[in-house]
Amino acid sequence: MSDSQLWDDVDAYFTDHLAPDDEALRAALRENEAAGLPHIAVTAAQGKFLQLLAEVQGARHILEIGTLGGYSTIWMARALPEDGRLISLEYNARHAEVATRNIARAGLDRIAEVRVGPALESLPKLADENPAPFDLVFIDADKANNAHYVEWALRLTRTGSLIVLDNVVRGGRVLDAGSTEPDIVGTRAAIELIASHPRLSGTAIQTVGSKGYDGFAVARVLD
Ligand code: SAH
Ligand code: DHB
Ligand code: MG
Repeated sequence: MSDSQLWDDVDAYFTDHLAPDDEALRAALRENEAAGLPHIAVTAAQGKFLQLLAEVQGARHILEIGTLGGYSTIWMARALPEDGRLISLEYNARHAEVATRNIARAGLDRIAEVRVGPALESLPKLADENPAPFDLVFIDADKANNAHYVEWALRLTRTGSLIVLDNVVRGGRVLDAGSTEPDIVGTRAAIELIASHPRLSGTAIQTVGSKGYDGFAVARVLD
């Protein structure tokens, strides 16, 4: 058996037991597929992990950067109370439309909202609204801007908030210090920012699974 087949099978085992989907999550993936969106949503096991992080945070306000079809959005929004709020930023209008429908079908349209536009334009507008600090920020958009997104996350959070950065390993390409690929340059800049910032304490975890070999970074906002 190939490594990747084994990773798939183990993911399926854990997912069946610990992160079972339901009709709304299945429908979201079906609609993503039907609309031709790329297969880059988090896995169910990862979605459940984000949900658990939101619960541990006692989150009332969540910010997501990079919505795609709203699959990760649904997992996280389900951790929020009735009066909680999730704002998800998406550059691609078609992705945002699919996501908005998926979120509504999941019964979460009063909690989760998709805002269309490049995140680096949406973030200053959001900051101008003086929103309540976000308890959890999930960064999963264009990796080139990862360090900028971490900076924005710092401005929009509070002491004790959590910042999660997806796809920080990319099959090991993160190691390439000489890389000129924007996603690697951006991710390395974000890792170095987390490492050096006095108000962040973080780590990164490598993962394998049905989405291959990748990983995520988690950072806690300090005083
Ligand atoms: N979080 C989603 C996956 C996001 S995929 C999930 O797990 O279900 C990355 C998304 O980021 C894509 O939909 C892409 O269109 C969006 N994106 C890329 N560049 C962006 C930008 N500058 N601003 C906002 N969104 C962006
Ligand atoms: C890609 C983006 C993602 O957010 C992800 O989880 C996996 C892959 C990509 O752009 O290739
Ligand atoms: Mg991702």
